Amino acid sequence: MTPTGPAPRLRPATPADEGFLLALTDRLAEFEAPPWRTATEIRGADHRILREALRQPTDDVSVTLVEDPPGTPAGYFFCTTRRDYFTAEPVAHVEVLVVRRGAQGRGLGRVLMDAAEVWARGRGIRQMSLNVFAANTRARELYRHLGYREETVHYLKRLDPR
Ligand SMILES: CC(C)(COP(=O)(O)OP(=O)(O)OC[C@H]1O[C@@H](n2cnc3c(N)ncnc32)[C@H](O)[C@@H]1OP(=O)(O)O)[C@@H](O)C(=O)NCCC(=O)NCCS
Repeated sequence: MTPTGPAPRLRPATPADEGFLLALTDRLAEFEAPPWRTATEIRGADHRILREALRQPTDDVSVTLVEDPPGTPAGYFFCTTRRDYFTAEPVAHVEVLVVRRGAQGRGLGRVLMDAAEVWARGRGIRQMSLNVFAANTRARELYRHLGYREETVHYLKRLDPR
């Protein structure tokens, strides 16, 4: 899965990239979602914080785009800084990771996750976290290969109206 040709290029996203970034979030619903979640909910959830991050960048957030080949946007990660629930230590939380469909499988997911770790380390952060739907096997496989391990299991029960 090593990319061929010129090496992919990483760069911070700018407000001019907003259309590309928001369109790509459609991909976040491309797996068999639980019956109680709609694709609109899934892909829409990150739009607000992503827009805010682009328009009002701060040090504790990174929206980084990968271009492959250089000049052609192919994917991005969006990382925020949270606090570990148990220790209150800072944690870099991967809110979004997405690669354009036609650019999948050539190592860009890994390139982006490595870059997210570099960003976190550069800020003195020693933990990464993320959430992934249980059915998103492809993404889960990537995270497993990169050394991520499951921690808590999120349960949800819908209550019928009485
Ligand atoms: C998940 C995603 C970011 C992976 O990006 P990618 O560029 O294809 O990933 P890579 O090419 O770097 O592959 C990395 C790992 O993914 C896994 N992978 C790649 N292709 C795969 C496939 N066809 N089936 C299953 N796993 C696969 C492998 O474990 C691979 O590890 P390896 O390099 O040791 O073989 C991309 O598929 C995507 O954008 N999916 C839709 C959005 C999404 O679900 N994001 C995650 C939300 S939590």
